[in-house]
Amino acid sequence: TEGPLIDTFGRIAGDLRISVIDKCNLRCTYCMPAEGLPWLEKDEILTVDEIDRLARLFHSLGVREFKITGGEPTVRRELPEIVERVCALDDVDVSITTNGLLLDRLARPLADAGLRRITVSCDSLLRHRYAEMTRRDAFEKVTAGLAAAKEAGLDPVKINCVVIRGTNDDEAVDFARLAHDGGYDVRFIEYMPLDAERTWERDKVMPAEETLAAVSAAYELTPVAQDTPQPATAFRFADGAPGALGFIPSVTNPFCDSCNRMRITAEGAFRVCLFALEETDLRSALRAGTDDAELERLIREALWHKWPGHKINHPDFVRPDRSMSMIGG
Ligand code: GTP
Ligand code: 5AD
Ligand code: SF4
Repeated sequence: TEGPLIDTFGRIAGDLRISVIDKCNLRCTYCMPAEGLPWLEKDEILTVDEIDRLARLFHSLGVREFKITGGEPTVRRELPEIVERVCALDDVDVSITTNGLLLDRLARPLADAGLRRITVSCDSLLRHRYAEMTRRDAFEKVTAGLAAAKEAGLDPVKINCVVIRGTNDDEAVDFARLAHDGGYDVRFIEYMPLDAERTWERDKVMPAEETLAAVSAAYELTPVAQDTPQPATAFRFADGAPGALGFIPSVTNPFCDSCNRMRITAEGAFRVCLFALEETDLRSALRAGTDDAELERLIREALWHKWPGHKINHPDFVRPDRSMSMIGG
């Protein structure tokens, strides 16, 4: 087969998200249980060479956007080496989504490895609430990490904020102020049913539209035209401040119709949707000595079975067995 990676709905998959570890140094309530999860053994996780091989293969199939995720990617000691290998590919946009705790130390090595931009997850600007939401008293580390990211020249520094009604939905304007005054690109994300403890309820979803309304009451916003399909609707500040805002309506208005994403979990399972119920075991194929042509066939076949979109809003929605940290976000 030749041509771009395409599914039966005509969507071209040009974005690969690679999880490099399942472990994390936080325990966000909307993601993991307090006691953590049964972690993978070291030999179950893809090696740097295996990640490199898959990244090259997907690159040869037209993928130009690579997202490195976890668990928490900075917990993997070889992260700078992995980043260096992926950044060495031609004409690629590489980014990491991290909780930022270890960025104080890692921002510089990552920039030196070729990383240009970064996304940091932070759901509250109040120290106590941050500690409640993540079950770790680490807010100061995130602040230090954000500063280190800027200092290392990473640009933009995006901030992901999962908005949960009744928990942190009163902080939207504070986050907008941080974007405005600090020059960050803050994105508000709707809470999805991917928490390990399965306590997600529809009432806890703060619709992106409501968050936008709250922020718009405080700041005049200008929509930003987007050339590539993205889950976030983007805005700039009308007064010309350097920051930006994004709203990700993952539940109320999903971007499935234009979804260009594929995922590889830490143990090498290929997933064509965040909510996919089936996956392809690429690690076994790699370790059995499979050649590129056969790997490509497995990838194209999986993509051919990609469904039109998640069914969170349908009565017959079935949650995948994996929760967010085991997928990579
Ligand atoms: P960058 O903007 O390039 O950093 O990538 P991104 O928008 O994918 O950012 P990130 O990985 O930080 O993801 C932000 C949020 O977008 C995730 O937490 C999800 O809520 C949502 N999201 C990302 N990919 C998908 C997807 O394939 N399907 C759905 N439904 N939501 C997604
Ligand atoms: N719903 C929405 N976003 C989530 N994330 C983790 N769990 C959830 C969830 N249940 C976010 C993280 C990170 C991104 C990759 O996914 O906060 O920013
Ligand atoms: Fe860790 Fe990210 Fe899950 Fe929080 S959301 S527990 S930072 S993997």
